[in-house]
Order: sequence, then C-alpha cells, then structure tokens
Amino acid sequence: MKTVILGIVLSIVMTPVMATTQAAEEALSNYRQLGVTSFDAQAGQQLWQQDFDGRQCASCHGEDLTQNGKHVKTKKTLKPMAPSVNSGRFTKIKKIEKWFKRNCKWTLGRECSPQEKGNMLVWLIEQ
Ligand code: HEC
Repeated sequence: MKTVILGIVLSIVMTPVMATTQAAEEALSNYRQLGVTSFDAQAGQQLWQQDFDGRQCASCHGEDLTQNGKHVKTKKTLKPMAPSVNSGRFTKIKKIEKWFKRNCKWTLGRECSPQEKGNMLVWLIEQ
C-alpha cells in the first residue's frame, strides 16, 4: 500500500519534469543524429547572453529566467523560461524548434546550428 501511494505521489510530482525531459531529449537526440557529439551548457549560456547589435535572447525573455519576460516589440508578457518555475516549458518538440528558428533569426540574423541549439537547450532545462 505504501509503495502504491509513494508511486502515485511521485508520478504527480515527476510528470511535468518528465515532459520537459522527454521533449528536450528528443530534440537533443535529433541534434546528435545531425552530427553533434556533445553539448556544452556554458557555451549555451554565453550564446543566450551574447549581444548581437543590441539584440539578445534576454530582449524578450528577460535577464532572470525564473521571472516573466516581456516581448520587446509587442510588450506582451512571456512566461518564465525556467522549467523549475514553469513546468510547461520545453514540453513539445515542435514548439521548441519553431521558436528556436524564429528567435535565432531575429536575434542572430540567422538560424542557430544544431550544436548551438543543443548547447542552449541543455543549459535552459537546468534553469
Ligand atoms: C523578439 C522576442 C524574442 C526574442 C528576442 C527571443 N524569443 Fe524566444 N520566444 C519568444 C516568444 C514570443 C515565444 C513563445 C511564447 C512563449 O513560449 O513564451 C518564445 C519561445 C521560445 C522557445 C520555446 C520554449 C518552449 O517552451 O518550448 C524557445 C526554445 C526560445 N524562445 C528560444 C529563444 C532563444 C534561443 C532566443 C535567442 C537566440 C530567443 N528565444 C529570443 C520571443 C522571443
């Protein structure tokens, strides 16, 4: 009986975390298939914080990933990027790829490589 209750409690606690892990793992495994051999969270953080002619990821997502961001153009509030406070983050691979594409284009002026996306993703999911 105790084990059953523990199991139920664990699955409730773990579900959002696992959704993030699953979608992120899927994305990372796609990048590996494209030839990336390892991911570097520190490089990911650096790229996230890098300034490209006044544009950076934080322009919309904010400096503190556990806080709301604000879209630099539409002024709309963006929910925190950190999965530790927002369990809805990085739970769908389609969403991850769609926004990586758009936001890299806007911020860097080009698409991010699988290596760059993987680096940022391993860093982001730790937040
Ligand atoms: C011009 C504003 C803007 C900038 C700059 C921006 N983003 Fe975003 N980003 C958004 C919006 C809008 C969404 C979709 C709404 C949401 O998920 O909060 C989003 C969502 C995302 C998602 C999807 C997260 C998920 O839950 O699946 C990823 C990944 C992402 N952004 C990465 C980046 C990266 C990497 C950069 C910098 C290269 C960046 N963003 C810069 C506006 C921006």
